Amino acid sequence: MNAKQAAGYRAAEWVKDGMTIGLGTGSTAYYAIEKIGEMVSQGLRIRAIATSNASEELAKKYNIPLITAAEVDHLDLAIDGADEVDPEMALIKGGGGALLREKLVAIHSDKFIVIADSGKKVSSLGQFKLPIEIVPFTYEWTLKLLESKYDVPFELRKNGDELYVTDNGNFIVDAAFGVIESPATLAEELKALTGVVEHGLFVGITDTVIIGYEDGRTELIE
Ligand code: A5P
Repeated sequence: MNAKQAAGYRAAEWVKDGMTIGLGTGSTAYYAIEKIGEMVSQGLRIRAIATSNASEELAKKYNIPLITAAEVDHLDLAIDGADEVDPEMALIKGGGGALLREKLVAIHSDKFIVIADSGKKVSSLGQFKLPIEIVPFTYEWTLKLLESKYDVPFELRKNGDELYVTDNGNFIVDAAFGVIESPATLAEELKALTGVVEHGLFVGITDTVIIGYEDGRTELIE
């Protein structure tokens, strides 16, 4: 059992029969999906929405029934990883590029559980580069707009020689803020910029954080 597995498996304890749940993305969410898949094979009846094509494939592999937003108006629970977690349970997410779908699923869930290994706990957000999803049309201008507003390095995410494209067909800019003094303020500012679709700051959304440790222990923060 490693730290990510410990956190992912613990979160699966919140999944109950009859629930409609959101499946996160990334190497920690992987373990939650794996465990939920095992529970489904033992008779648990749930339905799920995945936050990325990768997680959708994983859910299919584990025979977790998938639905679309047309079939429900909210989710009971969403479980997802994070790149950084601060003491107020504000997060940076999107290292894996799935931030937009992850935020949509998280905000439409009655309960949002974040699972992370202990290395993700930080005293303030910003050491991890903040992913910002932008539309491809005039992306060069959106990048310049961001650079004109914040005196920090911005980098268009690449996939080999090509620009990285999200599951939604957008680009990602990673911003090295260093320390984000007020995540809520920055979140609002970024959201207001035309060309920005979404950003990886999750503020006031998390209900519970499960931190996993290498010895298999878990810590619950609420
Ligand atoms: C995906 O876009 C991200 O938000 C992930 O949830 C985040 O990067 C955590 O991933 P790991 O669990 O792989 O560290």
